[in-house]
Amino acid sequence: MNKIKTIGVFTSGGDAPGMNAAIRAIVRTALYYNINVTGIMRGYEGMISGEFIPMSRKSVANIIQRGGTILKTARSEAFRTKEGRKEAFEQLKKHNIDALVAIGGEGTFTGANLFIKEFNIPVIGLPGTIDNDLLGTDFTIGYDTAINTVIDAVDKIRDTAESHDRLFIVEVMGRDSGLIALRSGIGVGAEAILIPESKTDIDALFKRLEESRSDKSSKIIIVAEGDEIGGFEITEMIKEKFPKYDTRLSILGHIQRGGKPSCMDRVLASRLGVAAVEALLNGRKGAMVGLINNNIHYTPFYNAIKHLSEADPNLLKIVNILSL
Ligand code: F6P
Repeated sequence: MNKIKTIGVFTSGGDAPGMNAAIRAIVRTALYYNINVTGIMRGYEGMISGEFIPMSRKSVANIIQRGGTILKTARSEAFRTKEGRKEAFEQLKKHNIDALVAIGGEGTFTGANLFIKEFNIPVIGLPGTIDNDLLGTDFTIGYDTAINTVIDAVDKIRDTAESHDRLFIVEVMGRDSGLIALRSGIGVGAEAILIPESKTDIDALFKRLEESRSDKSSKIIIVAEGDEIGGFEITEMIKEKFPKYDTRLSILGHIQRGGKPSCMDRVLASRLGVAAVEALLNGRKGAMVGLINNNIHYTPFYNAIKHLSEADPNLLKIVNILSL
């Protein structure tokens, strides 16, 4: 017999569209199995300070379509300390919470791993980050919406670039990962994509620009935020090398984190939310639930947070063939 009576749910780290759909799925699945759910506000910060709210079917009504997270989120310094985690555990005991569902990314799962080791509390994770930089799932919740936001913005930039015969450098999010840049870059027909997973060969980029068709009036280069050169510097280098180009830099920034979740993200979040609660009830802990080839998979937190050191060579090849 499983002894879980109350599950705590929280979102942590950078928000991602679809987190609300995940919260809704977790709350409604738990209630379906006659388990209580408590919402923990502001991630680990709220766990430490005791910001807990009871959740009902109604409290998650009408949120599936909303970006952001109704539980709010934070990056907690206090939870990195042993005292902080002890305080968080005391708060969970005080509120009779026996298990947790954590929605977040690398930092969230690193914290969860320590918490399980120190206090033996069951935690299951849901991949909630626009960066898609977790192992154990084909896509993270929020990634699909974010890359659609990027292509929508870059299509607009393409219109003005085309009108003025300009070269645009567009910097997209991805502090440690080029996956937003890679997929959205293919989606907008970028001339080049610069990502942290591969060292930027500046001579090859210049050669590519030199050799690019003269009848192409606009050019778009997508740069991931985490690329070792970065959008600002690459713009300066191109301006110096190619004074004939009318070059501009556009940094998309946090618009990539907001907005209505796409249908893909809503369905992904719903499926993973159901699977997370069922996993806890089946006695699982310390794992992230993900979707691989359309099947639910559980990956231990310590594996989920290992970084992909290289980008998919097939996608990189596509960029090179198609942008000529
Ligand atoms: O972790 C997701 C992410 O969007 C990164 O791509 C980005 O570098 C970072 O969050 C930005 O975080 P913040 O909102 O704290 O500036």
